[in-house]
Amino acid sequence: MTNAADLQAAATVRFGEGPAISAEGLDGAARDGLHRLIDRRSCRDYAERAVPEGLVSLLIAAGLSAPTKSDLQQADVVWVRDRALRAELMTDVPGADWIAKAPVFLVVCGNGARFASLFEGRDFVNNHFDALFNAIGDAAIVLEGIVAAAAIAGLGTCPISQIRNRAREVSRLLDLPDRVFPFAGVCLGHPAHEASVSPRLDLGMTVHQDRYDTDAFQRLAPGYDTRRNVAKPFARQRAAERFGTDPDYGWREDKRRQYSTPERADFGAYLRDLGFAFD
Ligand SMILES: Cc1cc2nc3c(=O)[nH]c(=O)nc-3n(C[C@H](O)[C@H](O)[C@H](O)COP(=O)(O)O)c2cc1C
Repeated sequence: MTNAADLQAAATVRFGEGPAISAEGLDGAARDGLHRLIDRRSCRDYAERAVPEGLVSLLIAAGLSAPTKSDLQQADVVWVRDRALRAELMTDVPGADWIAKAPVFLVVCGNGARFASLFEGRDFVNNHFDALFNAIGDAAIVLEGIVAAAAIAGLGTCPISQIRNRAREVSRLLDLPDRVFPFAGVCLGHPAHEASVSPRLDLGMTVHQDRYDTDAFQRLAPGYDTRRNVAKPFARQRAAERFGTDPDYGWREDKRRQYSTPERADFGAYLRDLGFAFD
């Protein structure tokens, strides 16, 4: 059973040296659950072992129990059971073989349709960016609810934003109505092997005391690059033919290269066409 030292060790692997962690007053089940959350890794290699349908329903129920902005309940889950349909969703997605092998595939959607339908024949005065923002937020925390529930249950998951590469096609294949959009897919199953933990930015960069620490990122990011390269080195340097080889390659350079090529620049237009407003 997890003890306080295990929790501290897991937090150190994830965040580096940081504030002391206390498990005081927590029982064994709570410590075990928290350990599974801090120790969670995205899984891209699944065992050929079915996940009972009732367990999938339980995990979805846990996800949809997330808080929801103004109780508007603007998220849905599409459980894609048809393998051929899943393959169609993943057409042209590079490196999607492992996604095809995941025992379960879900699509978490943001849903502004139910809310808007309440105003049919009336003035929908709140059709502005905040309405879209709230639906995105609901979908995001439902996704995390499923991911966290699966981690507690000992299952592996990986969110799939690549599903948005062809958002219009995905909408068509899943019969999504106007104002319903795919937020992310979720692969789910028993891990075939355990991936390593992906270190996060030090808590000194992402947790602020009273006021935002503007310099924290510049100050601490070089250390994070070093820590991350030790714990989970990048297998290769992205687009070396374009950017060359960098002896100091780390997370910052990897993200800079990843986002030096436009990605899903048409997603806003897709949402606008679904009926959402950005003002
Ligand atoms: C909204 C969202 C979409 C993601 N989309 C993908 C994806 O399309 N393909 C993929 O391999 N991983 C995807 N991921 C997983 C991230 O790459 C992963 O969480 C990140 O590299 C950190 O690793 P970890 O989850 O093991 O901590 C996604 C994660 C989130 C939250």
